[in-house]
Amino acid sequence: MLIEWSKDLEIGVTFVDADHKVLINLLNQVDDCIDQNEESTVLGSVLDALVEYTDYHFLREEKMMELSRYPGLKTHCDTHRALSQKVRTVYDQYQESPWKVTAHEIRDFLKSWLVDHIMGADFAYRDTCLDNIEAANQAGDVGFLGADNSFTGWEHLRIMLVDDNPNFRRLIRTILRAVGIRHIQVVDTPQDGLARLADRPADVVLCDWVMDEMNGTEFAHKVHEMQLPTRIVLLTGYSTDVLKERSSELGIADYLEKPIKARNLLETISRVAMSATPVAGDRLNAG
Ligand SMILES: [Fe+2]
Repeated sequence: MLIEWSKDLEIGVTFVDADHKVLINLLNQVDDCIDQNEESTVLGSVLDALVEYTDYHFLREEKMMELSRYPGLKTHCDTHRALSQKVRTVYDQYQESPWKVTAHEIRDFLKSWLVDHIMGADFAYRDTCLDNIEAANQAGDVGFLGADNSFTGWEHLRIMLVDDNPNFRRLIRTILRAVGIRHIQVVDTPQDGLARLADRPADVVLCDWVMDEMNGTEFAHKVHEMQLPTRIVLLTGYSTDVLKERSSELGIADYLEKPIKARNLLETISRVAMSATPVAGDRLNAG
């Protein structure tokens, strides 16, 4: 592991520490995907999540500092803008010419800014913000998808993820947990997924399309035969147009292309969950 979370990194504000853990987890995933299966697709997905989550975290942190009337707000915000811009530039460079930016370079750059920023600038606001519970609560309540997304059922949502790539499983689990999803079953084979679904239902299954022995469309067919109320979202490294043609009769709820975009993933899940059966809809909205 590149960076291990320790007490030294703890600010003491619950949502800030939770956000920093997500960022460090994503950073470790940059390191873990080096030289691994589907490196560029995983790295592209991890970088997108890092860019999105960094902006989200900065937004929440700035709101807390503002509400706490932290005198160093302006300087801290300037630092955030510069960091945000740098992370986005690295991501853009990677998207334009993946072969020009190595995962090692990206990892070293991200490690230095993340740890330096937490240990330096973030600790500077600690004394001002730590006891301002109301400011921390208000900032912590800002949702990842923003005010336009009305879905509130994350805590009650039951998700299954079926993917044979351990790095994708880890990334998607990190993204799901970051928005408060607690019921997550993660399996590496469709067979295991089907066996578990019979005992522990899921509202939404995220299923990789290309896997050994049984592909995503065959999996969807079996779920359909089991007459489960589960909604299926297929993930694919290929164009979703091709996939839509091949699976049009299976009632797939939606399709997502890899590299995964964190925002798109969560918006799709919330949309699919909201269009679930009335019973599931009631349960999810009850939270
Ligand atoms: Fe900060």
